[in-house]
Amino acid sequence: MITLKNVILRRSAKVLLDGATVTINPGEKVGLVGRNGAGKSTLFALLNGGLHEDGGDFSLPKQWRLAQVAQNMPETSESATDFVVAGDTRLVELREQLATAEAAHAAEPDDADAGMALAHAYTDLADAGEHDAVPRAQALILGLGFKVHELDQPVDSFSGGWRMRLQLARALMCPSDLLLLDEPTNHLDLDALVWLEAWLQRYAGTMIVISHDREFLDAVTDVTLHIEHAKLTRYGGNYSKFEDMRALQLEQQQAAFAKQQEKIAHLQKFIDRFKAKASKAKQAQSRVKALERMERVAPLLAEADFTFEFKEPANIPNPMLTIGDASFGYVQEDAPPKVILTHVNRSVLAGQRIGILGANGQGKSTLVKTIAREMGALAGTVTEGKGLNIGYFAQQELDVLHPGSNPLEHMVRLARDLGPQSRERSTEQDLRGFLGSFNFSGDMVKQPVGTMSGGEKARLVLAMMVWQRPNLLLLDEPTNHLDLATREALAVALNEFEGTLMLVSHDRALLRSVCDEFWLVGRGVVKDFDGDLDDYQRYLLDEAKRQRELAKQAAEPPAPAPAPVASAPAAEAARPTPDGDGRAQRQRSAQERQQRAEQTRPLRKELASIDARLTSAGAEKSALEARLAQPLPAPEIADAGRKLKLLGDEIEALEERWMTLSEQIEALAA
Ligand SMILES: Nc1ncnc2c1ncn2[C@@H]1O[C@H](COP(=O)(O)OP(=O)(O)OP(=O)(O)O)[C@@H](O)[C@H]1O
Ligand SMILES: [Mg+2]
Repeated sequence: MITLKNVILRRSAKVLLDGATVTINPGEKVGLVGRNGAGKSTLFALLNGGLHEDGGDFSLPKQWRLAQVAQNMPETSESATDFVVAGDTRLVELREQLATAEAAHAAEPDDADAGMALAHAYTDLADAGEHDAVPRAQALILGLGFKVHELDQPVDSFSGGWRMRLQLARALMCPSDLLLLDEPTNHLDLDALVWLEAWLQRYAGTMIVISHDREFLDAVTDVTLHIEHAKLTRYGGNYSKFEDMRALQLEQQQAAFAKQQEKIAHLQKFIDRFKAKASKAKQAQSRVKALERMERVAPLLAEADFTFEFKEPANIPNPMLTIGDASFGYVQEDAPPKVILTHVNRSVLAGQRIGILGANGQGKSTLVKTIAREMGALAGTVTEGKGLNIGYFAQQELDVLHPGSNPLEHMVRLARDLGPQSRERSTEQDLRGFLGSFNFSGDMVKQPVGTMSGGEKARLVLAMMVWQRPNLLLLDEPTNHLDLATREALAVALNEFEGTLMLVSHDRALLRSVCDEFWLVGRGVVKDFDGDLDDYQRYLLDEAKRQRELAKQAAEPPAPAPAPVASAPAAEAARPTPDGDGRAQRQRSAQERQQRAEQTRPLRKELASIDARLTSAGAEKSALEARLAQPLPAPEIADAGRKLKLLGDEIEALEERWMTLSEQIEALAA
C-alpha cells in the first residue's frame, strides 16, 4: 500500500503538493492526471525516491520492486533483444552470480561447497525464467511495433522514438510490484498503443500511469488521481468517470458558492441597514458574528486557459511547393542510400490543409523532414514557392531548446536571428507579453528550460513557431506532451490559420477537426486517401495484419513460453501477452471502434424518417382542423375528432422519440 499523509512537495519556490493525503492499494491501476506543469512527473520522482517530501509522511512497502521507463535516450550497440532482456534486473543479477559460481567451481573443482553453490545458481536462474527470457523480450519488442529482422539490430541504429520504445519494453520486461509509466503512449502509433493497452490490462502489480490520452486511460485504469492547484484528489473510476464526477462536483460547488454569496449579501445588507439603529444593533452584531464564523465555499478558480493564434502570414506563395518525380530516403555511409518513397509527384497549394496518414515506419516523417529541408531528396525535384516560410514542429524539436536558457532568452535569440523584419516588435516588454499569451507568466519567463515539464517545453516550441509567422506549417505529432486544454487551443488556432497546413498525428480528433484532405504514405508511395478516418482505422488494422503475415513468413515467431517455474505474481505479470490474445484484443477493439462509428448511422436514419413523418402528420393535422372548422354532420365530426386525437398522440410520441434520438446522437458524437 502506498500512503501519503499531508505531504508537501516543492520545486524551487513552487509548491506542487500542499497537504496531499491519499492511499493507493496493491493491485490498483491508477491514472495520474492534471494540467501541464501540475506536478505529475514530480510526484513520480517522490515515488521512485528521486525526491524527498518537504513535509508530511510518505510510505511505500520496502520490498516492492519498482519498474519505470528510463527517460534517457539509450546509447549502446547492444542488440535490441539483449537490451530489453537486461531490463529483467533480477535475471541480470542471477546471471552474474552464476558466472561467479562457475569461476569458483572451475578454480576448485573438488570443493563440495563450490559445487553446491553452482547448482543453486543454476536453479535460481531457471526459477527466474532464464529459459524463456529471450522470447519474452522479443514478444515485447514485436508487440511495440518492431519488425522481426530488427530484433538483433543494435540499439543505436534506431531513431529516437524507436529507442524510447525499447526503453518502454525494457521496463515491461522487469518483474515488478509497482509500475510507473510517464506518458508511455507519446511515441506509439495506434497498433502499438492497442497492444500496450492489452498488456497493461493483464499486468498484476500496482500501476500508476501519467497520460493526457483519454481513451488510453479509460482502457487501463480504474482509479484516477488528479492534481490541481497543489491539491491531490482521488476518484474511484477511470478518466471518463472522473470527468463526470468532477463536473458534478464543480457544479455543486458552484451552486453552493452562489447560494452562500447570496446569504452573505443578505446578512451584509441587514448589518448595513441596522447597525446604526440602537434597537436592532444587537441583531446586527450577531449577524456580523455569523458572517465571521461562516466557512467559506471556495469560488471556482478559473483555469488559466489560454488561446493563441497564428499570425496572418505576410505572403502566401501559390503553389507553395512542387515535388516532381522525387525519391526520398536516407543517405548511408557505407551502403547505397535507403530509399523509402519513390515517384513522389505532388504539389501543395496555398490554403490546403493536408493530414498525412500512414502506418508506422512507412515514411511520414521522411516526407515531412524532406519538405522541412532537414534532409535532401535522393532524386527528382522539390521546388519551393517564392517566400515560402516553413514552421516545422517535430518531437525532436524539444531537443532544440537550450536547457540552460530561459524562455525569454530563447525569444530574444529568435528575434535577433530573424533579423530586422521583426525588430519593431522585439523589445523585452513585447517578448514578455508574447510569452504571457502562451501562459509563461511572471517567474516562468526566467525559469531555465531544462527544469520545465514536458508540456511546458512543447508549449514554448509552439510559441517560438508562432512568432516566426510561417506560411506553411509542418507539424509532426504536435500534441504529444500537451494537456487536453492546450490541445484544444492548438486545434482552434490551426483551424483559423490562413496559410497551408501539413499535419502528421495519431490524434484522430485533431486530424478530423483541422484537415480537409488526406495523403496516404504507404508501400513506398504517397497518394491521395479518399476516405474518412474510420476507413483509415480499418486500413491501419489491415496493414498491421499484412505486416504480421509478412513477418511470419520471414521468420518463425518465438515459441510460446512454457509456464515459468517462479510463481511470484510479478513474474507472472511480466510474461508477455501471447500474440493470439493480442490479436483477438486488437480485433475486439477494432470492432468496438467500428461499432461506435456505425452506431449513429441507424439513429440518424430513424431521425430522418421521424422528421418526414412529423412533416406529413403536421399537414394531416392542419387538414383535419380545417375540415372541423366547416359545418359537418355529427358522425363526421366525431370521426374527425377521433382522428385528430390519434394524430396528436402520434405527434407527441414522435417528438419524444425525436428528442431521445437527438440526445443519443449527440452523446455518441461527443
Ligand atoms: N528544478 C525546478 N525548478 C523550478 N521549477 C521546476 C523545477 N522542476 C520542475 N519545476 C516546475 O514544477 C512544475 C511541475 O513539473 P512536472 O514536471 O512535475 O509537471 P507535470 O505535471 O509532469 O507536467 P507535464 O504534463 O507537462 O509533463 C512545472 O511548472 C515545472 O516548471
Ligand atoms: Mg510530466
